[in-house]
Amino acid sequence: MRETVLSLKGVEKVFGSFRALGPVDLDIGDGERLGIIGPNGAGKTTLINCITGVYRPDKGSVHFRGQDISHLEAHKRARLGIARSFQIPRPFTGMTVLENLLVPLDYCDVEGSKEQRAKSVLKSVGLSGRISHPSESLSQLELRKLELARALVGNPKLLIADEAMAGLSEEEIDEVLSILMKLNGQGVAVIMIEHIMHAVMRFSERIVCFETGQLVAAGTSKEIAENPLVQKVYFGE
Ligand SMILES: Nc1ncnc2c1ncn2[C@@H]1O[C@H](COP(=O)(O)OP(=O)(O)OP(=O)(O)O)[C@@H](O)[C@H]1O
Ligand SMILES: [Mg+2]
Repeated sequence: MRETVLSLKGVEKVFGSFRALGPVDLDIGDGERLGIIGPNGAGKTTLINCITGVYRPDKGSVHFRGQDISHLEAHKRARLGIARSFQIPRPFTGMTVLENLLVPLDYCDVEGSKEQRAKSVLKSVGLSGRISHPSESLSQLELRKLELARALVGNPKLLIADEAMAGLSEEEIDEVLSILMKLNGQGVAVIMIEHIMHAVMRFSERIVCFETGQLVAAGTSKEIAENPLVQKVYFGE
């Protein structure tokens, strides 16, 4: 049995009088690969924002490795080991690829030299050949890799990838998937939020589906693909 790395209980987020999320109960196991699917506006990014500390939930609790983090600021949650990549890559412009990693490293406790750590993370995502290049010169795939690398510098226990493959070709999707699989093999739990259905199905051990802020289905990829409710809400069938 896996230990629980992240546990959400009764989490709700309200914007004005509109409840964008919840109440949601969801546990994620140590080293698990969890996929999150759901139509546009289902509350997926809002959920991630409640986990990472961009938002504090209006109700409910978020526990990470047994600690109640519901009221912690985002940078403190990151320090504890929660990392995320953004739906739209946000590189620091006017800086090289290496410098883009040295900035977040200033906020991390790492063993040894920060430059060595940055280079080793860049190698793990396949960006070794680009370390001295300005971030503006990167391709879409390389920007996605840089986004992942920036999330990984702090050696997280949980990585949340919000649409890390949007806009990529099939070959490029395979490349990002293999980076995420390799990371997961090193013990990092991964939450993948993705609209690219075959990618999330290949990757995930378990998938949960959201609709209008509610978790409406959960199961293996096969179970989710065959779930009539998921077909209705997600595929419009
Ligand atoms: N800061 C905000 N203020 C007001 N409403 C918001 C805010 N953020 C999100 N919402 C609303 O909450 C709902 C959920 O949005 P969210 O971004 O979580 O959806 P999503 O599942 O990530 O969608 P997508 O697949 O398009 O990324 C939407 O109706 C959205 O308009
Ligand atoms: Mg989103």
